[in-house]
Amino acid sequence: NVAEQLMTIAYENGVNLFDTAEVYSAGKAEIILGNIIKKKCLRRSSLVITTKLYWGGKAETERGLSRKHIIEGLKGSLQRLQLEYVDVVFANRPDSNTPMEEIVRAMTHIINHGMSMYWGTSRWSAMEIMEAYSVARQFNLIPPVCEQAEYHLFQRDKVEMQLPELYHKIGVGVVSWSPLACGIITGKYENGIPESSRASLKSYQWLKEKILSEDGRKQQAKLKELTHIAEKLSCTLPQLAIAWCLRNEGVSSVLLGTSNPAQLTENLGAIQVLPKITAHVASDIDKILGNRPQSKKDYHH
Ligand SMILES: NC(=O)c1ccc[n+]([C@@H]2O[C@H](COP(=O)([O-])OP(=O)(O)OC[C@H]3O[C@@H](n4cnc5c(N)ncnc54)[C@H](OP(=O)(O)O)[C@@H]3O)[C@@H](O)[C@H]2O)c1
Repeated sequence: NVAEQLMTIAYENGVNLFDTAEVYSAGKAEIILGNIIKKKCLRRSSLVITTKLYWGGKAETERGLSRKHIIEGLKGSLQRLQLEYVDVVFANRPDSNTPMEEIVRAMTHIINHGMSMYWGTSRWSAMEIMEAYSVARQFNLIPPVCEQAEYHLFQRDKVEMQLPELYHKIGVGVVSWSPLACGIITGKYENGIPESSRASLKSYQWLKEKILSEDGRKQQAKLKELTHIAEKLSCTLPQLAIAWCLRNEGVSSVLLGTSNPAQLTENLGAIQVLPKITAHVASDIDKILGNRPQSKKDYHH
C-alpha cells in the first residue's frame, strides 16, 4: 500500500511530522494514518501528528469552529486516528460566524483535556491570529502556536510580508504547504497535463485551468529559467523549490505531498540543497521570479 510505503520512507529519513485533516477523503485519511502508526508500532512520542478541523459532516452543526464542532470534531478525529491526542490541532480556516473568544476557549479546553498538545490556525490572516492571541492573553487562555500557510515560489506575500511580524512579536511560526504549487513547480506540466498527474484528476479541474491559463504559461517560462539554477546546484527543480521554502527562518516546517516513493525520495533530497541556497542564489531566483515582496526594511525615504 502506497501510503504505508511513503510513511516508512519518510520516517526512516527523519520526517516526524504527519499532517492530516478531518475533511481529507471524508475521514479516510485519518483512518489510514492511524492504521499505519499502529501496524508499524511507531512510538507515539517520536511522532508529531497534526489534524485540521472545520469541515466535519454534512449537518450545519458538524462544521465551523463552534465550541461544539471543535470538541466533537476532534473526538471524531482521535477515534479515526486511534490516538489519545494529536500534537497540533489546526482551525482549517477562519470562521466569521463564531466569536473569537469561543474559538480560543474551545481550543484551550481540548488542550486542557489532553486531546491536543497545541493549537494552530490555517489560512488565517495576521489580524485574525493577533486577535486570537489577544483574546488568549486577556482571559488567560492558550494562544495558537503556528499558522499553516501556502508558500512557494509563486506565492510569497503572506509568509514573507505579513507573518514575520507575528513570528517576531508573538513567536507564531509557519507550517507551510504546497511547496510545489500542487506539482506545478516540477516542470512536468511544461507540455500539457500528463495522465495520472494531480491536474488530470476530476476534482482538480481548477488546477488544470490554472496551468493552462496565460498566467500558468508565464509560470512555465519562469520554471524553465529556474531549471538552469537547479542544474548549477546539481539538484532538481522540486528540490530547489523545497529548499527555498526551508531557507525562510519563519518557516518551522514544510509539508510535502507525494504520490509515490520516487517523488518522496527526490523531494527529501532538498535537505542537502538547503546550504546551497546562499543569498546570491536567492537573489538570482528573485530576479527570475520578479515577485520579491518589498519589505519595510527596504523602504528608502
Ligand atoms: N492548510 C491547508 O489548507 C492545506 C492546503 C493544502 C495542503 N495542505 C497540506 O500540505 C501538504 C502538501 O501540499 P501539496 O500536496 O499541495 O504539496 P505540493 O508539494 O505542492 O504538491 C504535491 C504534489 O505534487 C506532485 N509531486 C510532488 N513531488 C513531485 C516530484 N518530485 N515530481 C513530480 N511530481 C511531484 C504530486 O502530485 P501528482 O503526482 O499527483 O501530480 C504531489 O502529490 C498536504 O498534504 C496537506 O497536509 C494544507
